[in-house]
Amino acid sequence: MEGGFARSFVWGAASSAYQLEGAAAIDGRGPSVWDDMCKRPGAVHGGHTGEVACDHYHRYREDVGLMEGMGLQAYRLSVSWSRVMPEGVGALNAKGLDFYDRLVDALLAAGIQPWVTLFHWDYPMALLHRGGWLNRDCASWFAEYAAVVVQRLGDRVSHWMTLNEPQIFIGLGHGDGTHAPGLKLSLAERLLATHHALLAHGRGVQAIRGNTKRRCLVGWAPVMRVEYPETESAADIDAARRSTFSITQKDSWNNTWFADPVCLGHYPADGLELFGGDAPKVQPGDMETIHQPLDFFGANIYSGTPVRAGDDSKAQVVVAAPGSPETAFRWSVTPESLYWGPRMIQERFNLPVVITENGMSNVDWIGVDGRVRDGARIDFMRRYLISLRRAVRDGVDVRGYFHWSIMDNFEWAEGYRHRFGLVHVDYTTQQRVLKDSAHWYARVIATNGASLDEPVETGLPQPAAAEAVVWSGRTGIATNGR
Ligand code: GCO
Repeated sequence: MEGGFARSFVWGAASSAYQLEGAAAIDGRGPSVWDDMCKRPGAVHGGHTGEVACDHYHRYREDVGLMEGMGLQAYRLSVSWSRVMPEGVGALNAKGLDFYDRLVDALLAAGIQPWVTLFHWDYPMALLHRGGWLNRDCASWFAEYAAVVVQRLGDRVSHWMTLNEPQIFIGLGHGDGTHAPGLKLSLAERLLATHHALLAHGRGVQAIRGNTKRRCLVGWAPVMRVEYPETESAADIDAARRSTFSITQKDSWNNTWFADPVCLGHYPADGLELFGGDAPKVQPGDMETIHQPLDFFGANIYSGTPVRAGDDSKAQVVVAAPGSPETAFRWSVTPESLYWGPRMIQERFNLPVVITENGMSNVDWIGVDGRVRDGARIDFMRRYLISLRRAVRDGVDVRGYFHWSIMDNFEWAEGYRHRFGLVHVDYTTQQRVLKDSAHWYARVIATNGASLDEPVETGLPQPAAAEAVVWSGRTGIATNGR
């Protein structure tokens, strides 16, 4: 089949510091809001904590070895702010910086590009005590921290991201209270915290560009809410696009309140109207600070919602049929989101797209023969990647794909009960086992995606072309001919 992923397309996997490093109170690391959250009774499933997690802090060499064995081209990691600066600002923790130094060197020695996220939710506790994201100074704190990290790693790291999923750390962390720091703030306060986080993003981009010692690419990694068209009629496509980029509720579950300031330099009109007097006071120069030129739009996309144009041409959600495919997290399996998400991002923001997260929670265990047969994950990835390839074929500038996650890890309020990894982790022994999906993905990487068209080993007859596979009621993956 003609066309597909460019030779420069980057195949990677992702993780974040608190979710796998462990060593939470070791070598001078200061506490983060997640350490605190884990101590609260009932906050995290089973009372699990990130204290040890995958013990990656001590086992990173072994883990890099596994990545190398899979042929991974890039690895998205995050830096723990309070490991590097225990108080969030001021004094540096040499041992913390040394760890990331060694990790980056190990990755580069294995031929793996480090893609570094500066903030993946583990906010320093010391700064929470000073008001956290509600304090406008947090933008300067973040810039100071970003400068420190880039001064240390910026001679070798060429890909940076500022914030991971601001919608979630604001919405769940400062609205629902189910994520750290467990606050339930008013709408006005949440929007103020959001404004400050966006300022921090802008100041962070400036700090990266001001301190890097090599040419580097800078982006961010918001979660994308994708509404995709049920059919490919112009009316459905239009309804899906408008719905994806609209704000209809007084919460954080939208794209544009975050992405429009960052990528277009203003808050969206519908949000301003809906939030009214609760919207933050924007000071002169704020929008310029937030709206820094970016090199790529990192998008975390796990699923989407099908919509159709209703009678009034407004989007109507298409209710999933009973028993439709879902992951163990009960997230719908919707490969279409990896076609329409990147396409709509590019149309609106005109930036190259990188899928900075995509994956699924599955019920995995080690079989009697030592294999982890996660066939569902393979099928999930295959469908989503075929859908992503269709976006590439249609001219969307998608530069890379990072599977979430390289290994099973601490899934926030869910503790360790959700397994998202390509590598299975036994948390009692810290033994790692490559799942079938890791082997399958290794071949996808080695063939630059060509193996997506190969049948998956099952011993049973299968349709020859992946494009022929349909789910009842809707096309599971892109149809041919585009
Ligand atoms: C996310 C997070 C990850 C989660 C993953 C699965 O960015 O939401 O980056 O930390 O583990 O999304 O829920």
